[in-house]
Formats: sequence, C-alpha cells, structure tokens
Amino acid sequence: MKIVTLTLNPALDKSSSVERLIPEQKMRCTPLQLDAGGGGINVSKGIRKLGGRSTAVFPSGGATGLRLQSILQEADVDIRAHTVQGETRENFSVTETATNLQYRFTMPGPELTEQQAEALLSIVAQLHPDYLVASGSLPPGLPETYYEKVAAFAKKINARFILDTSGAALAAAADEGLYLLKPNLGELSALVGVKKLEMNQVDDAALEVIRQGKCEVVVVSLGPQGALLVTRDGFEHIPAPTAEKRSTVGAGDSMVAGMVWALSEGKSFREMAQIGVACGTAATMNPGTELFHADDVERLLTWIREYGERYRFKDF
Ligand SMILES: Nc1ncnc2c1ncn2[C@@H]1O[C@H](COP(=O)(O)OP(=O)(O)OP(=O)(O)O)[C@@H](O)[C@H]1O
Ligand SMILES: [Mg+2]
Repeated sequence: MKIVTLTLNPALDKSSSVERLIPEQKMRCTPLQLDAGGGGINVSKGIRKLGGRSTAVFPSGGATGLRLQSILQEADVDIRAHTVQGETRENFSVTETATNLQYRFTMPGPELTEQQAEALLSIVAQLHPDYLVASGSLPPGLPETYYEKVAAFAKKINARFILDTSGAALAAAADEGLYLLKPNLGELSALVGVKKLEMNQVDDAALEVIRQGKCEVVVVSLGPQGALLVTRDGFEHIPAPTAEKRSTVGAGDSMVAGMVWALSEGKSFREMAQIGVACGTAATMNPGTELFHADDVERLLTWIREYGERYRFKDF
C-alpha cells in the first residue's frame, strides 16, 4: 500500500548543546547537528526506520531546501520536492546540559501561496496514495482552513487521509471528514469544545467525533499514559511502558509513523495503536530531534502486547 506524506511547512532542524545558557557571553556549543524536520517529513523518516517506504512531498526553497532534500536522500527516504521562492526555514534548538532543559526556537517559514500548495497536491495525486498523511503547522500564506481542502482532495483521489494537527486547522479538516485522527488530550478537548476533558470523558468525546462523521478512527494520545483507541465498535486503552525519558520531541510524529506503517501492512486497529504507542514511547528514549530506534520499538511492543493479553477482559 502506498503512503504519501505532505509537509506544507518543512524545516531544517539545527541542534546543539551548551553547558549553561548565559546572556551577553559567548557560549561554546557542541558541533551543530542537522536534521530534516516538519511533521510529515518526520513521519516519513519514522516509516523508513520501521523498514517501510513512503514518499515525502514538500515545498523546497533555496539552499536550505536543497540541504533538506539531500539529508532525506541520505536517509533513503523517497521525496518529491516542489521548488518555491524564498528560503526553507531553519529551526534551532539548544540543550542546556547542566539542567537537561531543551530550548526550541521555531521560525515561521516562507510564505506558501494557495497556487503552490495546489502544485503539491497535484504531485500527491500523481503518486496515487492509499494513505495520505499530513502533520504539522500550516505556513504563512495559507488560510487556517487549508487542511479542509486537503481532506476534500483526499476523498477525490480515494486516499485515506490521516491528519495530526491542532486548533482551527484540525477543526476545519474534521468538518470535511477524514480517516484517522490522532489528537492529544488538549487537541481533542478543543475539537469537542470542552476546556479540558477528564479521563473518563475521552471515549465518549472521541465516539462523538466519529458519530458526527468527522473520522472513522480516533487514537487519542495521552503522553506517559499511552493512548486510547476509539472506533464505532468500541474502545481500548493501550498503556505506554515506563521508559527513561530523554526528550519527547517527535513523540507524536513517531506515533503517527508507526500507525500508518501498521495500516499499510494490513494490521488490525489494535495492533496499529500498539505499534503507535511503542514508536511514541521509543521516541522519548532518544535525545534531541532523533526519532526512535527500531529495536526499542520491538522491545516495547512485546511489553505492550503481553500487557494487553494479560489484562484484557476475558469471560470467567
Ligand atoms: N513521558 C512519556 N513516557 C512514555 N511514553 C510517552 C511519553 N510521552 C509521550 N509518550 C508516547 O508518545 C505518544 C505520543 O505522545 P503525546 O501524547 O505527548 O503526543 P503529542 O502531544 O501529540 O506530542 P507532540 O508534542 O510530539 O506532538 C504517547 O501516546 C506515548 O506512547
Ligand atoms: Mg502532536
């Protein structure tokens, strides 16, 4: 099954570390590490780590865009970049090693016109995806409701649309209807118009979203509590194993990568959510922008499956 990821606001992520952040002084940093970033691109990288393939579609501007492309090619990720004017953005993060706190500076990115976004959608159409994944923020220049158009487009080309975003962008796309949503608790709360859902309201809220025709499957990610899988037929909690947390950067994208890969391999919804949680938790075990190691995923998945077998309700 063919997977295509769409990243409308890609970035070159630069990270470094320093012992302490001190104002007005030169701070000696460790060598800069470069990574390809932006929601959909991260998902493509995660799928590759799991041994799968996808094509990452994104706008590329200037020398930074070219750099981004070459980093992805080195990582053996298939790409289709559409050249745009302006310079692809660079994000910068610094870890203060004395405290292990990470400071993340994210830039807005160049403007993307609707016409350029349409060009990206035509590239997607040529690839005939079974699954289309969009993740991340929208660049300046596009209306907040742009993912609604992408949702309508996905229907037209018969692709199952999976979206991981927040706020008005998420609400608009959900109104159009899509296949799978992966909101965290805050995003789901906002989507159903509640300030903050209590844990015992999550299943009903997600089911309400499904009944309203907004999507077919919801996987609510709950950070260290794992995730709640909700479909029309029922729900199941998938716990996250306790892991030594180093950086939660990329946990959400890793989770989506695991889920889409699982779907494309024909796995059940339960397995999909279990693999998603394993990838998300594996991502928290790595420092900085690094996503996850496949062997960590394998180990965590064994734990999650055994937990499910042991504690799932059985007739007695
Ligand atoms: N502290 C943690 N311990 C164990 N697993 C975690 C932790 N934080 C996140 N995860 C894993 O990552 C998954 C996604 O995390 P989370 O719910 O925080 O998503 P998110 O808020 O969308 O994250 P992001 O900021 O990357 O968008 C969780 O379902 C869980 O499997
Ligand atoms: Mg997220």
